[in-house]
Amino acid sequence: MNITRLTTCSDEEFRQIEALVSVLSSSCLAERATLDELLSQEGTHLFVARDEDGTIVGMTTLCCFTIPTGRHATIEDVSVLPECRGRGLGRQLVQAALDYLAVTGRHYRVGLTSRPSRVAANILYRSMGFKSKETNVYTMDI
Ligand SMILES: CC(C)(COP(=O)(O)OP(=O)(O)OC[C@H]1O[C@@H](n2cnc3c(N)ncnc32)[C@H](O)[C@@H]1OP(=O)(O)O)[C@@H](O)C(=O)NCCC(=O)NCCS
Repeated sequence: MNITRLTTCSDEEFRQIEALVSVLSSSCLAERATLDELLSQEGTHLFVARDEDGTIVGMTTLCCFTIPTGRHATIEDVSVLPECRGRGLGRQLVQAALDYLAVTGRHYRVGLTSRPSRVAANILYRSMGFKSKETNVYTMDI
């Protein structure tokens, strides 16, 4: 298994990413145009885990942005195929995103969110040193 940053995406790789999106949400469909936009943007980075055949079996996205309070990053959509879980891929994906920030030599406040029902994810994030913060999360679709 190895973790890399995806910079281009073949149709086959897109289908593999589609499967990982459906792991995250049964109601959310991956779109090719959205993925291409992600890969073309400067502040967003898609990390993928591949098995021995090169098939993408895990992913996460790192989003970086600067606001008046400083440089921030969020780690989004950590997803590993059910049959590949428990082998350290989730941890390696999150670590790859953190390592990517570390080599910039700049300070980032890194955040992520996870529903309480996502038990494995919450244990993983806490075990990596993320601290829970008392806040309300609001969303709106426009
Ligand atoms: C969360 C997820 C990405 C973890 O991926 P994974 O490859 O299985 O995780 P790892 O093997 O790297 O496990 C890392 C740590 O997470 C915790 N963990 C993983 N699976 C767990 C489980 N089923 N129960 C409890 N803790 C678990 C452990 O602390 C583990 O460390 P350890 O192996 O040293 O004990 C994966 O379960 C997944 O894709 N879940 C569905 C999507 C999801 O919830 N994503 C998070 C969105 S916020």
